Formats: sequence, structure tokens, C-alpha cells
Amino acid sequence: MSQGRPAHLRARDGALLRGDVVDVRPAGSMVQVRLNVAGWRPAVPGQFAMVRAKESHCFLARALSVHSEAFPAGPDAPARVSFLIAPVGNGTQELTRLVPGDEVSVLGPVGRGFDLDTLVRPVSSPAGPPARLLVVGGGVGVAPFLFLLECLGRVPAADRAAFGEILVLFGFRDELQAAAADLFERAVDDLRAVGVDVRLDVICEDGSLGRAGLVTLLLEEELRREDVVVACGAHAMCEAVWDLCLGAGGAEAWFSLEAGMACGVGSCQGCVVPVAGGGMAKVCRQGPVFRGSEAFGESLHPCLSPEGSGS
Ligand SMILES: Cc1cc2nc3c(=O)[nH]c(=O)nc-3n(C[C@H](O)[C@H](O)[C@H](O)COP(=O)(O)OP(=O)(O)OC[C@H]3O[C@@H](n4cnc5c(N)ncnc54)[C@H](O)[C@@H]3O)c2cc1C
Ligand code: FES
Repeated sequence: MSQGRPAHLRARDGALLRGDVVDVRPAGSMVQVRLNVAGWRPAVPGQFAMVRAKESHCFLARALSVHSEAFPAGPDAPARVSFLIAPVGNGTQELTRLVPGDEVSVLGPVGRGFDLDTLVRPVSSPAGPPARLLVVGGGVGVAPFLFLLECLGRVPAADRAAFGEILVLFGFRDELQAAAADLFERAVDDLRAVGVDVRLDVICEDGSLGRAGLVTLLLEEELRREDVVVACGAHAMCEAVWDLCLGAGGAEAWFSLEAGMACGVGSCQGCVVPVAGGGMAKVCRQGPVFRGSEAFGESLHPCLSPEGSGS
């Protein structure tokens, strides 16, 4: 029935699966947790899973973006699925305290991910500069982009050639949180090895890596109208990124949005957020990836519009 639908829509319905913890590695203030998951179907970057320890004090599973996935050879070999977790509360702390051999439940992959077909064929005027892909992550919002970069490294060379460059722009609170950027160096090297022009820039709010500032400072310096932006981070960061896109003359952008989630599959209304045009959307089903105009509309934030300034 799903034949003929684009891949990012086709792969959205996951299954409730058993995961076995393979390893748990600190990455600065975050933690990378790798699982063996038998029956895991290939995900699309931006999709997520609802994850809960088998022995848990939490009633609900927690939403986690797919950080990486691999399918080792062998007919019965389970998939290797990784998550990058910021231990902010009970659920995420519990998951980062797991040890190899522990069991978790994994509902996934679920949600609507980034449409790779659109990202690798950006709209660009033949006369203008080549389109670039700008990958913007803030804090644990960098999590889905390892998987995205890994997938971009595997697209056919002819499609990759559509990009002038890939710029990965990450913003963190401090140096400890920024240690997570090291996880991306191998994927960046792999992209370079297949001929992609790619750069990773990191900025910290406290200036511990040089200049102090938010990731939007890096984006503002780079952004051109022809660029395609994908972003994930705090809601305020996403809004600021979209304002920069509009200010740059309408750069295309997609956002992975966060919302409190209970079921993760569209049944509870727990993740409903207001979207452009006065509507509401379930982040778990209609998202978490939304086009900028769909999520935030076509006009600048009131504080930035000419009518709003100076008040
Ligand atoms: C689609 C989607 C993908 C996500 N992907 C990831 C991911 O890859 N890695 C990851 O670590 N998280 C991710 N999250 C966020 C994660 O689901 C929440 O952080 C988690 O549900 C919080 O659960 P908790 O029990 O640890 O904290 P709670 O007990 O729910 O909250 C404890 C405290 O932490 C605060 N808090 C909650 N969430 C956050 C947050 N995101 N940042 C800062 N403070 C917070 C709360 O305000 C509260 O004060 C994702 C969320 C969504 C919707
Ligand atoms: S989390 Fe239940 S409807 Fe989205």
C-alpha cells in the first residue's frame, strides 16, 4: 500500500522492539548509547524512537532521535542503533546509566524525517552560486545529524555533486557539551574522502572555544538565499534560524522540532504544537521534521519586523 510514496514517508511506522545495550560512552556532558535491535527497519535521518529501560522508574518512554544506525552482515544479525542523550531528567538519566547487556524497549523508527531527495537536489539558479547544505545544531539537537551526514556520504556521487559545500554549524553551552562534536569528525572525514567539500564549525556560548556566541552567529555570517538549511535544537534557536532564512531572502529550511511526548505514535495529543496559519500539529506524526514555512509561517518574528522594531 505504501508503494510509490516518498521514502521519508514510507519508513515512518516503527514497531515495538527489544534493544540490548552494547555500549555506553560519555561524550562530554552527553552520552552515546548503542543498542542491538533485532527487527529494526532502516530509518530516515530525523526519525526518532521512544526508548525505555526494561527496569524503569518512568511510566513513559522518552523520545530520542536516531543518532546512527548500521546493519551488520548476516541474516539474523540485529541492527546497531545509537542514540546521543543529554541526561536532563529522570528518564534520560536512567538511560545514560544503563550498562552493556541491559534491556530496553524501543518503539521505532517513528515520525517524519528529513526528505533526502529534496536535500540532495536543492533549487539553485543556474546563474547564481551553487546551493550549499547548512546543517545547524544546538546542544543535544546535534543528535540526528550524525546519521544525516552518514546517509549523505552514501548517496550516489551524481546527486552529491548538487552541493557546492556542506557546512555543519554547531552551537553548545560550553566546552564540556561541545565534546559531542568529536563524534562527527569521522563522518566529516568520510564525506571528504568521497569528494564532498564539508566544514564543521563549533561555537560555545561561554567563549571556551574562542569566540563566544550562539550558533545563529555562525549561520548569519554564512547564510545565502540559495542555501538549504536543516536545523535541530531549542525552539527559540529554530525560530531564530528561520528568521535568518527569511531575512536572507527566503532560504529553504527544515526543522526537527521538540515537544513533550507520551505515546510517540499519534494517539495521545501530548505533542500537539501550534503551527503557521493558526493550525495545530502532532509533532510525533506530522513531524518531528517540518518545513520552515509550515512551522513558523512566512513573516519575521514580530520583534524583528520593521513594524515591531524600536518598540
Ligand atoms: C522528536 C524528539 C527527539 C528527541 N531527541 C533527543 C535526543 O536525541 N537526545 C536527547 O537527549 N533528547 C532528545 N529529545 C528530548 C528528550 O525526549 C527529553 O529531553 C526527555 O523526554 C526528557 O525526559 P526526562 O525524563 O529526562 O526529563 P523530564 O523529567 O521530562 O524533565 C526533567 C527536567 O529537564 C527539563 N528538560 C526536559 N527536556 C529537556 C531538554 N530537551 N533540554 C533541557 N531540559 C529539558 C525539564 O524542563 C525538567 O526541568 C527529543 C525529543 C523529541 C520530541
Ligand atoms: S506523543 Fe502522543 S500524539 Fe504525539
